[in-house]
Amino acid sequence: MNDIPINLRINGAAVAARVAPDLTLADFLRGDQALKGTHVGCEEGVCGSCTVLVNGETLRSCLTLAAQMDGGDVTTVEGFDDPAGARLRKAFAENFAAQCGFCTGGMMAVAREFLADDTIANHRDEAAIRSRLDAVVCRCTGYQAIVAAVRASVPE
Ligand code: FES
Ligand code: FES
Repeated sequence: MNDIPINLRINGAAVAARVAPDLTLADFLRGDQALKGTHVGCEEGVCGSCTVLVNGETLRSCLTLAAQMDGGDVTTVEGFDDPAGARLRKAFAENFAAQCGFCTGGMMAVAREFLADDTIANHRDEAAIRSRLDAVVCRCTGYQAIVAAVRASVPE
């Protein structure tokens, strides 16, 4: 029974919904909102493929209830259409950083948070990028192309 009202923003748009108390944010995004770029792998907070941005910070949507998002501002990979997001998407494409694409939404969310982090002295530093991308498991790429894409998305 969908008995909890929530009002939030998703990718810049106001959304009002009623959700079941046990509905995860991941299932809300993929099911109710048809945002399929957020993938669900392990469902226990390990793989990171379900990672989205909530109020600018990464969050595992498989471990979060949709009902907790009342008043929140959620950004999924589909919403990465601002200049920094567009650069990242272009860099992923040009560097072949997505193969099966299962991890890509989560990987890009982590990259977005990294690129917006003012405490990072050099966003092109490979060790810094690798340390942050540790949060998401990729079974395909060997990570090198993803690291290259994040570096390439940083303006000279
Ligand atoms: S599906 Fe959420 S961390 Fe794996
Ligand atoms: S591209 Fe397939 S899991 Fe990362």
